[in-house]
Amino acid sequence: MVEAFAVASGKGGTGKTTSTLALGMALAAEHDVTVIDADTGMANLLFHAGLADVEVTLHDLLVAETATSVADATYDRFGMSVVPCGTSLAGFDRADPGRLRDVVAELAADADVILLDSPAALGSKSAVLPVVLADRVIIVVQPTIPALSDGLKVQEYARSYGTGTAGVLFNKVREDIDRIAEQADRHFGGPTLARIPAADVVRSARQAGEPLLSHAPDSPAAAAFRRAAASISVREGGGADLADRFRSAVVPETI
Ligand SMILES: Nc1ncnc2c1ncn2[C@@H]1O[C@H](COP(=O)(O)OP(=O)(O)O)[C@@H](O)[C@H]1O
Ligand SMILES: [Mg+2]
Repeated sequence: MVEAFAVASGKGGTGKTTSTLALGMALAAEHDVTVIDADTGMANLLFHAGLADVEVTLHDLLVAETATSVADATYDRFGMSVVPCGTSLAGFDRADPGRLRDVVAELAADADVILLDSPAALGSKSAVLPVVLADRVIIVVQPTIPALSDGLKVQEYARSYGTGTAGVLFNKVREDIDRIAEQADRHFGGPTLARIPAADVVRSARQAGEPLLSHAPDSPAAAAFRRAAASISVREGGGADLADRFRSAVVPETI
């Protein structure tokens, strides 16, 4: 009974982590939500979620033969289960990205929704795996034509692994983007989920180490994220065979 979404984009800094936590909190009103920082090379979800000081993270779960259990790296925060990732280069070096399959499989047993905060560039095994594992991708783009083109590449890659498109989320919107949204409607295999305004309150949430929906629940940006989450109808997965599906996902070779 779980659907896994990869929150992805072509470039870094578009707002994937902000969006992962905002959508996660909004979806948590109705679902059991687990959020995983699968951006194992450039992890920053811990800073957005007040988890900068925790000892055990996803990195520890991705190393062979440690005694660490998934529960040790899972934190109850803001109504969600949150699995942060460490930021050290050594941790990233030691991590075996393929083990993410087993971690997701185990977490899937207790969740309705899994959100994988995903790496930006699709250049390596660790970068593509979340998109491969997910049922659907949520593509976060800034409203420019080059960003759309990057987002379409993510969609194309996802499709080649059977991962669908839940929708496109325009972030850091400053002006009228009707023309660009029209292009997006034509080319993406899912709807425009939201237009999130560029707003200081989003940055200050990050600085406070708190997701936007906790830091400024009444802000227009938070409302836009809630509407986006409400427009995603979560599908019920296959139940018992689900863990197997994650476990048997083929890890692509580096592209
Ligand atoms: N709508 C927004 N308005 C203003 N700043 C934003 C907005 N969305 C994200 N940011 C800021 O942009 C930076 C990058 O966002 P982040 O979510 O960490 O991106 P990513 O995970 O894609 O690298 C952060 O400092 C964040 O606070
Ligand atoms: Mg990020």
